[in-house]
Amino acid sequence: MTQSLIGTHKQELDTPILCIDLETMDANMKSMSDFILSRGKEWRPHQKCHKTPAIAWKQMEYGATGVTCGKVSEAEVMAAAGIEDILIANMIVGKRKVERVAALCQHADPIVAVDHFAQVEPLAAACHARGVLCRVIIEVNIGLDRVGCRPGKDTLELAQGIDRLEGVDLVGIMGYEGHLLCIPDPVEKREKIEHGMNVLKHCRDLLLDANLDCSIVSAGGTGSYQITSDCESVTELQAGGGIFADPFYRNQCGVVGLEYALTVLATVVSRPALERAVLDSGRKTHYPDLEPPIVKGHPGAKVTRVSAEHCQLDLEGEARNLKIGDKVELIVGYADHTTVLHDAFYGFRNDILEVVWPIAGRGKLQ
Ligand SMILES: Cc1ncc(COP(=O)(O)O)c(C=O)c1O
Repeated sequence: MTQSLIGTHKQELDTPILCIDLETMDANMKSMSDFILSRGKEWRPHQKCHKTPAIAWKQMEYGATGVTCGKVSEAEVMAAAGIEDILIANMIVGKRKVERVAALCQHADPIVAVDHFAQVEPLAAACHARGVLCRVIIEVNIGLDRVGCRPGKDTLELAQGIDRLEGVDLVGIMGYEGHLLCIPDPVEKREKIEHGMNVLKHCRDLLLDANLDCSIVSAGGTGSYQITSDCESVTELQAGGGIFADPFYRNQCGVVGLEYALTVLATVVSRPALERAVLDSGRKTHYPDLEPPIVKGHPGAKVTRVSAEHCQLDLEGEARNLKIGDKVELIVGYADHTTVLHDAFYGFRNDILEVVWPIAGRGKLQ
């Protein structure tokens, strides 16, 4: 039914809906890809901000080698859409999930991150039984202290163990510098990221010295790619969310050169006071906690309270002209937790609806 809305002006649509400015998203994709490829690296964007094969394919048109996923089910969605080079940058545990990865190897060419022999041994057995080979990389803890094998001897021993298994093929290592994204001083941020990437470099050298394959060294998010891309050891960047350039990346991570592309279109449904308006777009439509949304085109309007169904604006100056029925766009503070609330992206060019993309990865949590 939504397809019949194509060609409609934004102002005429029911709200709330999740909107992409297609021209801006394209420019962001080009900017990220140019930046990364110009440093001689590959781009394997994390798809968690969009979970949508059509957008992953667009990233590949802009030069991405493949896609990064966080879940087996997300990888299945991408593979079903014909994308083969899929990194699952997460620990896959459990007999059924391991079976699914082995089955996926018959339709795509996934890479699975591991940090312990207990994850890789069952995967190898399942793949061997099916007669397929699954690529594997070791996630190394470079200071995030989330998952990740300890660098040095532990990483080398795990690599040697994987190398002895049939059914899996060790192709490299990864690390994520997520703990360093919000360092305000750019010099300190660069130093700490370089240090983290040197940890990966040291691990790579250990593997290479032991005659093990380490062709892939994967790292980087949107909040860091403008630094991580300069690090010698890194071969590919996982930065993804920058295609929407959320205020989180710009304000807290100091990312430059990307423009806001994602908004929630809302309607003013109440004007309880001169200095207060209420929108129909509460927490069920966007995630305000990491970084508050910005009211597009109304500098005098600030989001001050968000409940399940309502979003309150405090108004100053010209923003006080807002009236019941007016449409307002909220530039969402952080896309990842917003996307998962919606069934579809509405893609606009010059405010005219051009495409509706179902978010096929929505609810794909296993
Ligand atoms: C493993 C991994 N890679 C990359 C990223 C960066 O993703 P994005 O560029 O969308 O912020 C994340 C973010 O949480 C991550 O967990």
